[in-house]
Amino acid sequence: GSRAVVFFEVEILDAKTKDKLCFLDKVGTHPQFYPARQSIRLDPKGKSLKDEDVLQHLPVGTTATFYFRDLGAQISWVTVFLTEYAGPLVIYLMFYFRVPFIYAPKYDFTTSKHWVVHLACMCHSFHYVKRLLETLFVHRFSHGTMPLRNIFKNCTYYWGFAAWMAYYINHPLYTPPIYGEQQVKLALIIFLFCQIGNFSIHIALRNLRPPGSKTRKIPYPTKNPFTWIFLLVSCPNYTYELGSWLGFTLMTQCLPVAFFTMVGFIQMTVWAKGKHRSYLKEFRDYPTLRSPILPFVL
Ligand SMILES: NC(=O)c1ccc[n+]([C@@H]2O[C@H](COP(=O)([O-])OP(=O)(O)OC[C@H]3O[C@@H](n4cnc5c(N)ncnc54)[C@H](OP(=O)(O)O)[C@@H]3O)[C@@H](O)[C@H]2O)c1
Repeated sequence: GSRAVVFFEVEILDAKTKDKLCFLDKVGTHPQFYPARQSIRLDPKGKSLKDEDVLQHLPVGTTATFYFRDLGAQISWVTVFLTEYAGPLVIYLMFYFRVPFIYAPKYDFTTSKHWVVHLACMCHSFHYVKRLLETLFVHRFSHGTMPLRNIFKNCTYYWGFAAWMAYYINHPLYTPPIYGEQQVKLALIIFLFCQIGNFSIHIALRNLRPPGSKTRKIPYPTKNPFTWIFLLVSCPNYTYELGSWLGFTLMTQCLPVAFFTMVGFIQMTVWAKGKHRSYLKEFRDYPTLRSPILPFVL
């Protein structure tokens, strides 16, 4: 089957060889298993070897057994992010413009009388345009690809939530926040503050990695005060992301938005804990004061 693990033995004739571990690509007998689909391990249950690994530095003798696993069809990260993020942008705008077949026909292409609805649309669109631009011009990803099947799961999540939130916020019967203008203004400040913070962290992470490399370093605060939160948390981009959605929840006072914020928070906490653990494992001198996502708490 395509997901079966097979193993093969390699005789290392020249111990100094710097050959990369893309055997099947070189053998050329199975062109469908292009290098990004290959997972090659020394132990069938162990971690996949890295693209940069060379035979010379592996803990093997003059012969070695490698285990190959097909990772399934791959799709580039950039394509994934563009699809995931362009969807919510377009879907939200369809509800905002009240295209036919969403609300009652008499509301087709009408606009809301509440200014907060227009502000919310600007904030939502800004958020996703920012993410699209960051994907194209800021992030330096270490993995070129991800399994194709993930895109269906991720798009269901992002597109589904965008539709659910947009349906209620742009609904002709939408009621604006209870504390009116003051609440919306405070929410906008929180939202913008966290958007700038999130962007600042993305720039700081980008600057940790020279172009074309995959190196990981300990992130530290830079001259930009928005990055000083690195003193207390390992993944402040998630902290700011959470803050942005809390701001958006306060602004719209809408239950599906609160729900999206909560689900996003749970997901980001799981990732932040994993990243925090890897930092501790990888760097002996990792600052002890840091928490994964919320200072001193989580
Ligand atoms: N609302 C939601 O539910 C939600 C969920 C997830 C993400 N997001 C948003 O999407 C953004 C990106 O998410 P992400 O999960 O990809 O963030 P991430 O893992 O923190 O990575 C952001 C970029 O920085 C790089 N990076 C991270 N740590 C590094 C280090 N120590 N040294 C060098 N480079 C490093 C990453 O490279 P690698 O390729 O090596 O990781 C990646 O290119 C988040 O910040 C957040 O704004 C939103």
